[in-house]
Amino acid sequence: MTTPRFVIEDNVEDFNGDLLVFCVYQAKEGGLCHGPMEKQVQKAVEVGDFSGKEEETLLFYPLHGMELSLAGVKRVLVLGLGDPSEQEEPGGVRDLFRRTGGVIAKQCEKLKAQTLMVTLPETELLEPGQMAECLVEGICLGDYRFVKYKKEKSKEREYPGLNHVALAPGKTDHDVLQRGMDLGRTAAMAVCQARDMANEPGNAWTATAFAEFAQNFVEDLVKDSTEPHSLGCRILEKSDMERLGMGGILAVNRGSDEPPQMVVVEYLPEKRAETILLVGKGVTFDSGGISLKTALGMENMKYDMCGGAAVLCAMQVVALERPNVGVVAIIPATDNLAGGMAVKPGDIIRHFNGITSEIINTDAEGRVILADALAWGINEYSPCCVVDIATLTGAVVMGLGHHYSGLMGNNDLLAQRLVSAGARSGEPLWRLPLGKAYSKQIESKVADIRNIGGKSAGAITAAAYLENFVGDTPWAHLDIAGTAWDFTEKTYIPKGPSGVGVRTLVELIRSWEPGVCG
Ligand code: BES
Ligand code: ZN
Ligand code: ZN
Repeated sequence: MTTPRFVIEDNVEDFNGDLLVFCVYQAKEGGLCHGPMEKQVQKAVEVGDFSGKEEETLLFYPLHGMELSLAGVKRVLVLGLGDPSEQEEPGGVRDLFRRTGGVIAKQCEKLKAQTLMVTLPETELLEPGQMAECLVEGICLGDYRFVKYKKEKSKEREYPGLNHVALAPGKTDHDVLQRGMDLGRTAAMAVCQARDMANEPGNAWTATAFAEFAQNFVEDLVKDSTEPHSLGCRILEKSDMERLGMGGILAVNRGSDEPPQMVVVEYLPEKRAETILLVGKGVTFDSGGISLKTALGMENMKYDMCGGAAVLCAMQVVALERPNVGVVAIIPATDNLAGGMAVKPGDIIRHFNGITSEIINTDAEGRVILADALAWGINEYSPCCVVDIATLTGAVVMGLGHHYSGLMGNNDLLAQRLVSAGARSGEPLWRLPLGKAYSKQIESKVADIRNIGGKSAGAITAAAYLENFVGDTPWAHLDIAGTAWDFTEKTYIPKGPSGVGVRTLVELIRSWEPGVCG
C-alpha cells in the first residue's frame, strides 16, 4: 500500500483532480450549504433527496457556467455530517470526523478517485487542527487494503488507493492545519502497518518476522538520522531466555519448530524524566497447544499477535515524534503449537521472577509469555509504568462484545489516562475489577499459581495472573480479544484486523506528563 500525499491547498477553484468534497451539517432551518454548491444542494433538500444526515451523499458532475467555476474537477461530492452536537460520547465529535474520512475513502474507492480535495467545514465543537487530524486519520484508515496475495490482475488490485489528498483550510491557520494533518497521518500509517502484520498469515508472520521487522525499522531510522536518535533494538533469542530463566515463553514455544523471540525496541532520550514500558502479546498462531482449539474459526488465531503489532507500530510513531518521555516496547513472540515436545497440562514451569506456575490449560498461553516479558522488562528498565496489550481471553468478548476493550490494572491514575486516550482515539475501554477474591481463583495446590481460574470471570483471572509479575509498578492491562478484529463496524475500520490499541497508546504518550501515575 502506498501512502497518499497530504497537502494544504487554498484555492478550491484551481483543483482539477478526481473528487472535491464539501462536508455539510444537517439542516435545522434554512440552507445547509454555502459556497459554490449552495443552490444545487438547496434544490436537493427541497425535493427531499438530501438533509445532511451523517453519511448521506450527493454526487455532482460540474459543468462550465456554474456559479463558481468548478469545471476543472471531475466530480463534486456533498457529504452529510449530521448534527455534531448530538455526539454525546467523550471524543464523539473527533470520531465523527474520523468516520467522515472513512466515508470519503470509501467513495473514492467506488469512483476510483485518486486525487482528492476536502474543504473543511466550520464548527465550534472541535478545533480545526483536531478536525484535520481526525479527517486525515479517517481517510488514511478507510483507504486501507491488503492485496499482497491477490493476482496482479485481480479486481481487488484495480484501484491502487489514494495518491494525493488536499485539505482546503478555509479560515484556519496553515501551521495549525499542518500539525493536525501530520498527527493524523503518522498515527494512521502506524495502524495500517499493524493491520498488515496481522493480515500476514501465520506461516509468514513468525516470531522471527517480528524480530526482523523491528531490527530493520530501527536500523533504517538510525541510518538516516543526523541527530542523536536514542533508538535501539534488542532481540533475546532462545539461548538468552534459557540463561535468564524465562520458563514461560520457553514452555509455550516447546511445541513448535519456530524459535521464540523476545523483541525489544527502546527509545531512551537523554532528557527523559521517566520511561513507559509497553508489552504486547505476540502469539503468531494460537492452536491452543495440547489443549487444542476446535477447528471452527481457528484460522483467526493468526491474529493472536495483534497486541505485539500494536506496541511495535506505536513505537514507530514514537521514533518519528521523539517525545520527552522514554518508551520501551517488548514483544514476547512465539506460536503455540502441539509438537512432540509441547508443554502439557499438569506441567509446572518457573517464570523469570522465580514464580512457579502449574499449566492447567495450554491454551491460556498469552499470560504465560507476557509474565516473563513483564517481569524482565520491569527489572531491566525500571519504568514509571507498564501497559500490556493482548488478545488474551474469549471471556472479555463475552463480557464486552466487540465494542469495548477490557481494561484492568493496579493504578487509578494510569487507568484514567488510558480511558481518556481511548475515548479520544475512538477505541473505548471499560475497566473491570481486580482483587483478592479473583486471585484466589488461580491458586494452585502444587505451584505458586496456576494458569487458569475456572469458568467465571475469565478476563479478570487472566489479569490476576499478570498482576503477579508487575510488583508495585503502576500497571494497566488491555484485553483486545474482542476488538483486534471484528471491531464495531465503522467506515474507517475494515473487516479483518482493526489495528486497535496503536492510536490509544500513541495518544497516551503524546499527552504524557511526568508523574501522572503518582
Ligand atoms: N488467544 C486466545 C484468546 C482469544 C479468544 C482471542 C477468542 C480472541 C478471540 C487465548 O490464548 C485463549 O485461548 N484463551 C482461552 C483461555 C482459557 C483456556 C482459560 C480462552 O479465552 O478461551
Ligand atoms: Zn490460547
Ligand atoms: Zn492466545
